[in-house]
Amino acid sequence: VSIVYLNGRFEPLEEARISVMDRGFLFGDGVYEVIPAYGGRLFRLGPHLQRLQNSLDAIRLINPLATEQWREILETLLQRNAGAQPETEDQAVYLQVTRGVAMKRDHRFPEDSAPTVLAMTHPILSLDPDTRARGVRAITLPDSRWQHCHVKAITLLANVLLRQEAVDAEAVEAILVKDGLANEGAASNLFMVKQDVLITPPKSPRLLPGITRDLVLDLARENGIPCREDEISLDELRQAEEIWLTSSTREILPVTELDESSVGTGRPGPVWNRMTALYQAYKEAVRDGRAA
Ligand SMILES: Cc1ncc(COP(=O)(O)O)c(C=O)c1O
Repeated sequence: VSIVYLNGRFEPLEEARISVMDRGFLFGDGVYEVIPAYGGRLFRLGPHLQRLQNSLDAIRLINPLATEQWREILETLLQRNAGAQPETEDQAVYLQVTRGVAMKRDHRFPEDSAPTVLAMTHPILSLDPDTRARGVRAITLPDSRWQHCHVKAITLLANVLLRQEAVDAEAVEAILVKDGLANEGAASNLFMVKQDVLITPPKSPRLLPGITRDLVLDLARENGIPCREDEISLDELRQAEEIWLTSSTREILPVTELDESSVGTGRPGPVWNRMTALYQAYKEAVRDGRAA
């Protein structure tokens, strides 16, 4: 059975309960993180906990746990959910903090509620060989989200509707466009290759500062792959040699079809091949304890 952490206790998923008065349930008043773990080792934990802190600060909620407490809880949770061969398993930790339970449903902050803290794990499935060879399809949609997309809020209704629209159109992701600029996917960051240069939009409230995004930029810089942070217009995206989507659980997905047209040659490109090899090597270093 799957074990979850809820408000100080480790318990079976089936037994975990929160109040219907929880503000996460009633208002979507909370923030979250998704952190991969390879062979039981948490990947980029420091940057994830820093982003959690930034999200909590943005919604004016005090972090209920110190960094070392988070680490201990998440490592214990991974151990409690490990299978027969923990060294080979890839899991992701989902954690969320809400503004807690208040007995009156009122938008304003309650005076004395304790935050609700939940963490659980699920397996990460690696990219299947078919996707690796062919890439995936994405569609572009108007970005209908709010003005604070840099906050990892649990309030995800716009993202849910956008992703479902993509799925209904037989695409794996919606690339979101506002004022003529392509910002990111419904649950991923956006990269393109133009004249052999890797480009991703700069950090701003229009997009989530992805941990995978930052790592891809670091790996590019360390390995001499030309890259820059720059706006991507929809017109430029349509001319791109390569398009990728990045996230902690989907890693680096090559987009080979955008709306009704193929991207570049219609196959995952050479820069993607190179970056994927670097990313996988980094993951293996984390698994062996050579990197964090
Ligand atoms: C809207 C959005 N952008 C980007 C990302 C990618 O972030 P990360 O690489 O930290 O998983 C996510 C992750 O789910 C997301 O929801």
